[in-house]
Amino acid sequence: MTIRSVFLGAGCFLPERVLTNHELARMVDTSDDWIVQRTGIHERHVAAPNEFTSDLALKAARAALADAKVEADSIDLIVVATSTPDNTFPATAVAVQAGLGITTGAAFDLQAVCSGFVFGLSTVDALLRAGNFRRALLIGAETFSRILDWTDRTTCVLFGDGAGAIVLEAQEQPGGRGDRGVLTTHLRSDGRHKKKLYVDGGPGSTQTVGHLRMEGREVFRHAVTMITDVVVEAFKATGYTATDLDWFVPHQANKRIIDGSVHKLGIDPSKVIITVDRHGNTSAASIPLALCVGLADGRIKRGDLVMFEAMGGGFTWGAALVRL
Ligand code: ACO
Repeated sequence: MTIRSVFLGAGCFLPERVLTNHELARMVDTSDDWIVQRTGIHERHVAAPNEFTSDLALKAARAALADAKVEADSIDLIVVATSTPDNTFPATAVAVQAGLGITTGAAFDLQAVCSGFVFGLSTVDALLRAGNFRRALLIGAETFSRILDWTDRTTCVLFGDGAGAIVLEAQEQPGGRGDRGVLTTHLRSDGRHKKKLYVDGGPGSTQTVGHLRMEGREVFRHAVTMITDVVVEAFKATGYTATDLDWFVPHQANKRIIDGSVHKLGIDPSKVIITVDRHGNTSAASIPLALCVGLADGRIKRGDLVMFEAMGGGFTWGAALVRL
């Protein structure tokens, strides 16, 4: 027997306002054709002025609890992966905790930019398997619209707002190939690349929030290699191969990066969940949002073998293999 972090349910939330490429083309010097060709993005959701990251996170969390059919007070760990917290402190996770009426256990934020959900999954998995906590909410939630320079066409067309959440529980599993739960996680970072994708402000440097800056071509150049390296590590660690996967749920930054990784890894393109066309890049929220969409439309089912991967600012990158 072995303890594993087993998936109980998922939920997501997208702000009502949809911003299309055509609208963006009236704001900056761009076109629907350019954005679709270079990124695969058609539209993205944008939070209302009075809608904060914690509001999106709370709604996704409530949906995940309902899907898992568990009560909020049974949750003893809340981790929110975000780079757009409501405030510098306290953590957005404690706002979610209070919103759910939970007064016990622990809640904290985790910041690994677009890799936040995979880093969060690895962290929550370790804490559950160590016996520190029993049942956890892992949330990826972002309002990147707040840190975009809406006059910079090279970045403002790429990102969107949203939140996705999953419930995980420590459960005994037989310890064999059929085990449900998080099977392996692989995390990496390399701070030499920190200036290729960053926010030009912060409490300790400028005392302002700042705006997202990116050398897109440089990020693109590294993305496929980094992603495929960690996915291959996850295969090696478990003995599974690309053909064993039921679903590949990648971070949704750019359709061309996803296509390049899928091709290099030899994954059947029909097993890939794509949401970047409708959500844009929602950073730490993109993987749980894509998972949620795949579960809701019936493509992804309990018991499926699913590979998650992400790459983002830092650079950070990682992969996780899970049997749902
Ligand atoms: N509309 C029209 N033209 C544009 C736009 C735009 N929105 N943005 C840039 N251009 C122009 C550029 O100015 C450039 O013009 P020039 O040739 O006259 O200089 C031309 O288009 C080509 O620009 P590139 O940057 O070379 O375009 P590229 O094909 O690399 O696509 C993109 C840009 C989409 C940003 C791509 O590089 C990319 O996806 N990079 C990776 C981004 C990413 O994955 N980020 C993930 C991590 S996000 C996170 O962690 C928060």
